[in-house]
Amino acid sequence: MTKQQMLNDLKQECESCRICEIGKKRTNLVFGVGNPDSAKVVFIGEAPGEQEDREGIPFVGKAGQFLDEYLKKAGIDRDKDLYIINTLKCRPFVIKNQKTGVKSNRPPMLDEKLACEHFMLKQIEIINPKLIVLCGNNALKSLFGSKYTVTKVHGKLANLEYKGRKAIAIYHPSYLVSYAHSEEKNKEFLEDLIYIHQAFGQ
Ligand code: URA
Repeated sequence: MTKQQMLNDLKQECESCRICEIGKKRTNLVFGVGNPDSAKVVFIGEAPGEQEDREGIPFVGKAGQFLDEYLKKAGIDRDKDLYIINTLKCRPFVIKNQKTGVKSNRPPMLDEKLACEHFMLKQIEIINPKLIVLCGNNALKSLFGSKYTVTKVHGKLANLEYKGRKAIAIYHPSYLVSYAHSEEKNKEFLEDLIYIHQAFGQ
């Protein structure tokens, strides 16, 4: 069986999963995107947002556009080098306005993480990447528990390893776009991506 066939089977399993509330109410499954044969990196975000939920593809909204800009600057080819997934495959949301039904994003809840985790771990196993990139604290916690925070261990600041694979944490682009507004942090983000390119390019 090829990697793609194994991922297709896993995706089907994931499609039929309705264990948690967001699985029952999802618009689209956001399983992952990339070429499993050429990807040297599994890139893990937190969870789909509105745009991702609409398109069924990770990192296509505001954070995704920021990420794409910085991947390009670092010389990383998103389509060829990365297989992009999230810790959750369905959008975690709250109904913000009962009248209009407008939804807003919220962080993943424990039961959602527990229900979804095995899909992420299986994706890593199938793709068998050279490197795992953990984007934001939620992704970092999903593999390493609460031992670390991105601020302390991002990029080359830590020598993380997960089951024999090198892992690198980076800031989440949503944090940089919506909260930090810091040239200094954007610069660190770019430096981390350049370091990542060097790490998987060798
Ligand atoms: N943020 C994430 O963590 N993942 C996405 O797919 C989009 C935004």
